[in-house]
Amino acid sequence: MSFLSATLARVKPSPTIAVTTKARELKAAGKDVIGLGAGEPDFDTPDNVKAAAKAAIDRGETKYTAVDGLPELKKAICEKFKADNGLDYTPAQVSVGTGGKQILYNALMATLNPGDEVIIPAPYWVSYPDMVLLAGGEPVIVEGGIETGFRITPEALEAAITPKTKWFIFNSPSNPTGAGYTWDQLKALTDVLMRHPHVHIMSDDMYEKLTYGDFEFCTPAQVEPGLYDRTLTCNGVSKAYAMTGWRIGYAAGPAEIIKAMGKIQSQSTSNPCSIAQWAALEALTGPQDFIPENNATFQRRRDMVVEMLNAAPGITCPVPEGAFYVYPSIAGCIGKTTPGGVKITDDEAFATALLEEKGVAVVFGAAFGLSPNFRVSYATSDENLKAACTRIQDFCASLT
Ligand SMILES: Cc1ncc(COP(=O)(O)O)c(C=O)c1O
Repeated sequence: MSFLSATLARVKPSPTIAVTTKARELKAAGKDVIGLGAGEPDFDTPDNVKAAAKAAIDRGETKYTAVDGLPELKKAICEKFKADNGLDYTPAQVSVGTGGKQILYNALMATLNPGDEVIIPAPYWVSYPDMVLLAGGEPVIVEGGIETGFRITPEALEAAITPKTKWFIFNSPSNPTGAGYTWDQLKALTDVLMRHPHVHIMSDDMYEKLTYGDFEFCTPAQVEPGLYDRTLTCNGVSKAYAMTGWRIGYAAGPAEIIKAMGKIQSQSTSNPCSIAQWAALEALTGPQDFIPENNATFQRRRDMVVEMLNAAPGITCPVPEGAFYVYPSIAGCIGKTTPGGVKITDDEAFATALLEEKGVAVVFGAAFGLSPNFRVSYATSDENLKAACTRIQDFCASLT
């Protein structure tokens, strides 16, 4: 019998690791590899945020804090929810954790019993199904394909709900597709959820601030106030404030769930880093003007990448509303053969051959639960993106 736990055996090794390991190996061997796998902005953390962290150190704010967040930060988070989303929360309804990831994990650990089902739209952020499995639950995958702009339909959501459904995880704009739900599209989903009062909603709003053009972000508890009592609205500073390494995420929702999340955190990591919490307070309350500036850069890159990928034979790339990803389909490449003699049987074969033959690292769609696609992160320089997309065009044109 294995020394390792049965719980661990439920979790699959990350399918993205194969591609990233391979890219690292090729780079180490001196090959010219362009990575389009980054899940973080390539911008630096704003100076005012860095200054707030330095000031916190100098003031001696280097000790334990309240387990689930500084009162000052919780107050700022309540103000953020009111100003941005029209949602009223008290500090007792707010939890601060070590990144958005820990917040979601705490919530699942605090609420799932064996056999409980969690509905996850696909394509999904890779961690959702495995976090559900680690917490003892059962992921129920609902596909939102390219024909619906990578959004699930109300009918598909309704069909997936059973008496065992505990949570519906909602992520807009999405990792890996960048797809965002408009108010009306989200209302169609919340109408379904209103008919099933036992289902709770975990809204992962991590990419709220990264939206482009005239798309307007909205979140379930805002669109349907009737869901307020069973919605956990999750967010964080990682993406909007270029603070992925600082590890601060937060959620607001029913006090009972928030308290339970704090209990898990108190017996695992305790408070998130005190210095990072003061930095996050500055991020949320300080100047916000760099966000539209960063977004203008992201939008320019998105438009360039979408245009260049659509010019590649066999690729179809929708224009996403937000985040910094695109999720093109390679349906038109399936069945073809590369100059290196590799048959493109699926998106993993495509991504592996693209890396080996053209030195471009992307993550294949099967990792996110929807094929045949791949994910491109455009959180890298214009030069890198242009060069990588040119290589993808050449690669696709060379398939026979
Ligand atoms: C959809 C989504 N949710 C949550 C997270 C986690 O963010 P954090 O770095 O704050 O843990 C990520 C990070 O990639 C993400 O893409």
